[in-house]
Amino acid sequence: MTSATLQAIRYQRGSLEILDQLLLPHQTKYIPINSLELGHDAIKTMKVRGAPAIAIVAALTLAVVLVQSSTSSSLSTAEQAKQFIEESLGYLKTSRPTAVNLFDAAHKLAAGVRAKAKADGATGQDVVQKYLELAERMLEEDVKDNMNIGRFGAEFILKVWKGSEDLRVITHCNTGSLATAGYGTALGIIRSLASQKHLTHAYCTETRPYNQGSRLTAYELVFEQIPSTLITDSMASALLAQHPDKIAAIVVGADRVAANGDTANKIGTYQLAITARYHNVPFIVAAPSTSVDLNIASGKEIHIEVRPEVEVTTLRGPVVDLDSIKKDSSDVEFKKTGEGDVVAETIAVAARGIGVWNPSFDVTPAELISAIVTEKGVVLKDDGVQQFGMKAFLSGESI
Ligand code: MRU
Repeated sequence: MTSATLQAIRYQRGSLEILDQLLLPHQTKYIPINSLELGHDAIKTMKVRGAPAIAIVAALTLAVVLVQSSTSSSLSTAEQAKQFIEESLGYLKTSRPTAVNLFDAAHKLAAGVRAKAKADGATGQDVVQKYLELAERMLEEDVKDNMNIGRFGAEFILKVWKGSEDLRVITHCNTGSLATAGYGTALGIIRSLASQKHLTHAYCTETRPYNQGSRLTAYELVFEQIPSTLITDSMASALLAQHPDKIAAIVVGADRVAANGDTANKIGTYQLAITARYHNVPFIVAAPSTSVDLNIASGKEIHIEVRPEVEVTTLRGPVVDLDSIKKDSSDVEFKKTGEGDVVAETIAVAARGIGVWNPSFDVTPAELISAIVTEKGVVLKDDGVQQFGMKAFLSGESI
């Protein structure tokens, strides 16, 4: 166990460790990822999650495997190296289906490697080197992109905000440092508003069933000392009704944005967009352009991952020392083993035998989205049009 940190991914050439997000916020433990199987499992079981982080961990897992195997005779020709990289990326892509960032990264890496393998005189080493450069660049660029998203998003909110000085926002799921290479997307906007002293309060939803909000976003908000409050998913409408003049926006991330702006994001996003529309509050999607899938015209084509039933019917966490519970405080003590480790248990929270539906994401129609904030700027809909022109925007036609 190490001290608290927001660094989800630790990478140096030849070595990758990820912060095990199944243990957060109560335990901080890094696990080494040194095989394709470990990388695939970490993504599938959500030890690492969040669209950009999934893509980067997949890319870097293969980078580590390539460095480990660099002297292997099976990678000596350019063709062999290219084939191994393509097959490995194909396997890593089967870990989670909804976030497009993984597919986008695999596509770009494979294209770069194919081009290198075709070059006159290219060796297996040259192809591996090209892969490493491309994968490592993705890690660096994600942080830069997120800082730009944060800046553009904060500027946009301040521009459209007509309320008093008490500016509050609601966010859903976790889109922060833990979901990315650093800084975050929707949470990056919150960070940016807070650092400019414009934000008085952030609300994070619990985000059932995996609790990315109560475990991860709450952890990041406390870590960053941003004034904040946790609500359950079912409290958002009541909050908006109670503070009609204080909530400046609902800000969320994205796993896949279709060409028309329809957006797949964590389950519960769609109902937040509906309540935002009802309460006349801007509903903002924050996403790097790597989350935009121009190959699909609308959200109808997005494959929504359905996760195991047991993730809804059980909860895992540290056992609370009952004597430490105070009626008016969220702070509690945990039971510890003789060695000082936290005792964790899995408990049942549903009637046995009940059927369960557990879609991990939903699709919010473009019609309900006020703006899509990317690292290249803010995408808006033309007056009277219910869709975004993502293709035109990203190709620079409407910037
Ligand atoms: O199932 P998860 O935790 O991977 O889902 C994460 C989300 O839905 C995020 O909002 C999205 O990936 C954007 S993260 C910057």
